[in-house]
Amino acid sequence: MQTDLRGRDLISTQDWTREEIETLLDVARDLKRRRALGEPHALLRDKVLMLLFFFSSTRTRASFEAGIAQLGGHGEFIESSTTQISHGDTAREIGEILGRYGDGIAIRQCDWGVGNQYIRDVAEASRVPILNMQCELYHPFQILADLLTIQEKKGPDLRGRKIAVSWAYASSYQKPISVPQSLILLMTRFGMDVTLAHPPEYSLVPEIVEQAHTNANQHGGSLEIVHDMDAAFTNADVVYPKSWGCMLTTSDHEESRKIGEKYSDWICDERRMALAAEDAIYMHCLPADRGIEVTDAVLDGPQSVVYDEAENRLHVQKAAMALTMR
Ligand code: CP
Repeated sequence: MQTDLRGRDLISTQDWTREEIETLLDVARDLKRRRALGEPHALLRDKVLMLLFFFSSTRTRASFEAGIAQLGGHGEFIESSTTQISHGDTAREIGEILGRYGDGIAIRQCDWGVGNQYIRDVAEASRVPILNMQCELYHPFQILADLLTIQEKKGPDLRGRKIAVSWAYASSYQKPISVPQSLILLMTRFGMDVTLAHPPEYSLVPEIVEQAHTNANQHGGSLEIVHDMDAAFTNADVVYPKSWGCMLTTSDHEESRKIGEKYSDWICDERRMALAAEDAIYMHCLPADRGIEVTDAVLDGPQSVVYDEAENRLHVQKAAMALTMR
């Protein structure tokens, strides 16, 4: 178990070794158990986490704020539009200054081609750990919560288990590609057989797909890419269908909308769930476009684990804070 994580940033799960991630999951399970028993666990008394959001959030904000409070510290919510960032505060200034006020900085910045670099620039200037609450490339805490959830449902050894990471249609907006990218990176490191399904226009960043192949080769998993949702679902132990934008094909919103409409039959419904293994679980990071991306019968049905997934955000984030901010 690698425990020397004090001061470490968590921007992508690729920044941490598999052994370090296993430490985080171990601590998350312990903190989950302690909360269930009502055992105090104020491991970060008087510590402050700065929470800087450039985008809206339900789960991420609520779980980080609850988590730091349960650890005995304080979460300071900062919405970028209420700051002087638009008047000139640079990433370096944010890192230097917020790093002197607090003990950790968590950031959500999903602008295409901007977010990840911004978070890394803040990290470069900051004396405290930086936690990525989602950028345009990665959503590490979502995927750590997903991994914890899969292990709870399917057991700790995931080798030989099939996960279908599939694109699904949504009409609400061009959702980031950070969730599927983070899924293929992490699940291949834990030996899963990953089938990534998407229409041709919805490809992911080639370097990240290549890294996922490397992860699979190193850890005994596999990565297959198909353009057929049914093929991905067939015999899967875990299905994770969600929408994402065709950012690598076009930046034009009208063109994106038209491309998406060609694939409006890419929905997760009961027929598709029946293609998966009998005991398959349905996962989604939420929010979902109900009736478009997934039917109510699936999202609210017996195979859905979306609320356990959302709960596990709390536990993995508390583990990351306790390990890096102490
Ligand atoms: N899954 C997730 O990150 O949810 P929010 O956007 O509500 O934080």
